[in-house]
Amino acid sequence: MKAILRNKFDLGFFPTPLQHLKQLSKRYPDYNLYIKRDDQTGLASGGNKTRKLEYLIQEAIDENCDTIITAGAQQSNHCRQTAAACAVAGFECHLILGGVNPKVFDGNLLLSYLLGAKIHFSGENRKGEDIEKVKSELESKGKKCFTIPYGGSNITGALGFVNAVRELKEQLTMQKLNIDYIFFASSSGGTQAGLILGMELYELETELMPINIDKIETYDIPIEKYILNLVKSGKEILNIKRDYRLVDIKLIKDYDNAGYGIMTENEKSAILELARTEGIILDPVYTGRAFNGMLDIINNNKIQSNTNVLFWHTGGLPANFHYADKFF
Ligand SMILES: Cc1ncc(COP(=O)(O)O)c(C=O)c1O
Repeated sequence: MKAILRNKFDLGFFPTPLQHLKQLSKRYPDYNLYIKRDDQTGLASGGNKTRKLEYLIQEAIDENCDTIITAGAQQSNHCRQTAAACAVAGFECHLILGGVNPKVFDGNLLLSYLLGAKIHFSGENRKGEDIEKVKSELESKGKKCFTIPYGGSNITGALGFVNAVRELKEQLTMQKLNIDYIFFASSSGGTQAGLILGMELYELETELMPINIDKIETYDIPIEKYILNLVKSGKEILNIKRDYRLVDIKLIKDYDNAGYGIMTENEKSAILELARTEGIILDPVYTGRAFNGMLDIINNNKIQSNTNVLFWHTGGLPANFHYADKFF
């Protein structure tokens, strides 16, 4: 493994299981369906951010910081997992969350509080617009701050998913299995950038099927361009020779219409279908939306049949409790 990929702070349970979805594959006989269980990574109920945080927390340690600041929505899985990582690694954690202080804390917000995070409510701003302001307030009180961008999606965080491809490749080799397509929820772009780089580094031949979650642009450039920039800086660090262009960054934008955080019948039916066939819980914001997209694509035979299809479950379970009334 490259030295840069070894420089991480252990936070999770790896490898996460790679599981055959036996019941669901019977229901969709043209495809053989598998799932990668990153909902089982640990850190206060799992999720993809554990992988990113292993590298981000190590960087904060290397920079001798004592305080970590990040931002997101009130039901942010990234913020909940950052709070857990800070507890484990001994950092003071500040979360800047969109909206106003609610009467009741539930789902991820409740867990972030239980995990000891100091919570700042930031109204309209849910994507880290106020990070610098909070940082200078804390610095004036003598704190040494490390900031993590929205979703943990810088190149340091993306390394978590480069490493994840190595893990998957080892599992596939051991199980003598090929995966033709990998579906996953893509939002702030770090997961996708890491997977793209990891596929090249570890020679994994598969087609990525990233389902876009949030139709509002996060950055001042289009998300595809942001992902491309991450990939370009990652390829330098990892010494990857291949050239990447905008056309290499695919995003399936057919399922984000309802808007971020709005659970519709689509997400609901995907959550119920996987729960009731396989006993696996998705989430209303990310994986429910991505799984619905995958089922729609295979139902309509929009990808080649008689292939092996993997859904990368990126977590999000606690948000279900916030959306409880929408299920009935
Ligand atoms: C459960 C879940 N899945 C997928 C994602 C998307 O990952 P990324 O932001 O790296 O694109 C997130 C991001 O918050 C998430 O919480």
